[in-house]
Amino acid sequence: PSATLTIDPAFTIAPVNRRTFGTFVEHMGRCVYTGIYEPGHATADENGFRKDVLELTRELGVSVVRYPGGNFVSNYRWEDGVGPRSSRPRRLDLAWHSIETNEFGLDEFNQWCAKAGVEPMMAINLGTRGVQEALDLLEYTNHPGGTAISDLRESHGASPYGIKLWCLGNEMDGPWQVGHKTPTEYGRLAAETARAMRMIEPDLQLVACGSSSSKMPLFGTWERDVLRETYEFVDYISCHAYYGNDDGDTASFLASAVDMDHFIDAVVATADHVGAELKSSKKIGISFDEWNVWYGERSRRTDGPGDQWEVAPRRIEDEYNVTDAVVVGNLLISLLRHSDRVGVACLAQLANVIAPIMTEPGGAAWRQPTFHPFAITSRLAAGQVLRISPDSPTVHTARYGEVSAVDAVATYDDGKVALFAVNRSTEGPVEVTIDVSRTGVTSIDEALIVHDADPLATNSAAQPDRVTAQPADAGLVDGRLTITLPAISWTALSLR
Ligand code: AHR
Repeated sequence: PSATLTIDPAFTIAPVNRRTFGTFVEHMGRCVYTGIYEPGHATADENGFRKDVLELTRELGVSVVRYPGGNFVSNYRWEDGVGPRSSRPRRLDLAWHSIETNEFGLDEFNQWCAKAGVEPMMAINLGTRGVQEALDLLEYTNHPGGTAISDLRESHGASPYGIKLWCLGNEMDGPWQVGHKTPTEYGRLAAETARAMRMIEPDLQLVACGSSSSKMPLFGTWERDVLRETYEFVDYISCHAYYGNDDGDTASFLASAVDMDHFIDAVVATADHVGAELKSSKKIGISFDEWNVWYGERSRRTDGPGDQWEVAPRRIEDEYNVTDAVVVGNLLISLLRHSDRVGVACLAQLANVIAPIMTEPGGAAWRQPTFHPFAITSRLAAGQVLRISPDSPTVHTARYGEVSAVDAVATYDDGKVALFAVNRSTEGPVEVTIDVSRTGVTSIDEALIVHDADPLATNSAAQPDRVTAQPADAGLVDGRLTITLPAISWTALSLR
């Protein structure tokens, strides 16, 4: 089978948005404790941050990191995590049925962000708390000084953090959420919180909670009702999506990006519908602030309390394989393709908890297979995102019907092209011919592929580099690029 596509710099969608390459650090399982933070570890710095994980975070090309949850945030008191460690309380974390020691908190997170070279994205608790606590938190993080709460921060030796991007709660549509609300209850609270936060700092960028998945019973009406309340006060509505291959329907799993495309289009349409009702010319963006492959996703809501309250227990430490990496690469293609509306996206999460980076307490850190498409896309995508319409054979899927086997997106920056492409077929290779004549490129800088004879191959502490990106064979003659995409593969090309 063969496919053709054309890369034309005239067909721009939007500039590449660096915030597309965000991730997420939640106080959940071992994401913080023994993930990014482990005093006493051989690589720990003076703050207790694991330098091996910091290095991998930089290599991953992360731009923004959402914190501290997730479900965790909905019964979290940010004040618990600041000031002298000896007086920080131990608390029950109801979301993950764990003990939170508060050894790591707001100041540590912001110090970690500075070292990792990433922008912090803070979530506030609108489950058990409200407007006043959000204002206090904003005063602590951003106000220069001379008030009780900003002086408290100064007394902790910290300058203002200048955090611009804020989530107004988390998954408030989910019955598992502490302080779960109806769309109107949540919309009112989010609107009032946003309005008050803007009285301190008008140019904040605020995210209202959308549905926690497109399978939620209120999906569509939740977004509509929340935006009817919040439209003029927020910049983004959130999307969350996790895809797994629990039922072994690999063909459908490989086509997960089709679902993500529909999801984004549906939320954009809903937001624009509310904009039309309100006769507003403002456009609401999408903050896709949780996305990934997650096995057992369907059972997660009922994971249920264990018998014991533990500190940093192992939770959802999924081990990813080559097929998962191809899906992650394809989900990034979908996000990039929607750069005109997706302003923020966060791979959930960063370390240990459904994560590209794994660690052992006191031991090694390594890259999961999913690490590679993310890191390479973040490194190569630049300039303008270009629309690509592959003419490709199709694959039959039980969930989405006939879908294109080849999916792709390209970026164009000052004479340089980056192309990201997947072959979602489980059956066999596709020969792809790409017309690049309109871009003026004449040579291939890099050609990398994530693929393996064993699509279930994984990495581990013992074999950390069993799955990596390998050089791919491609030819470029007279404006025609040719490459073979093997079944279940993700490829990146950098051309100049
Ligand atoms: O990322 C894990 C969890 O998934 C988050 O805490 C929650 O927001 C979502 O349900």
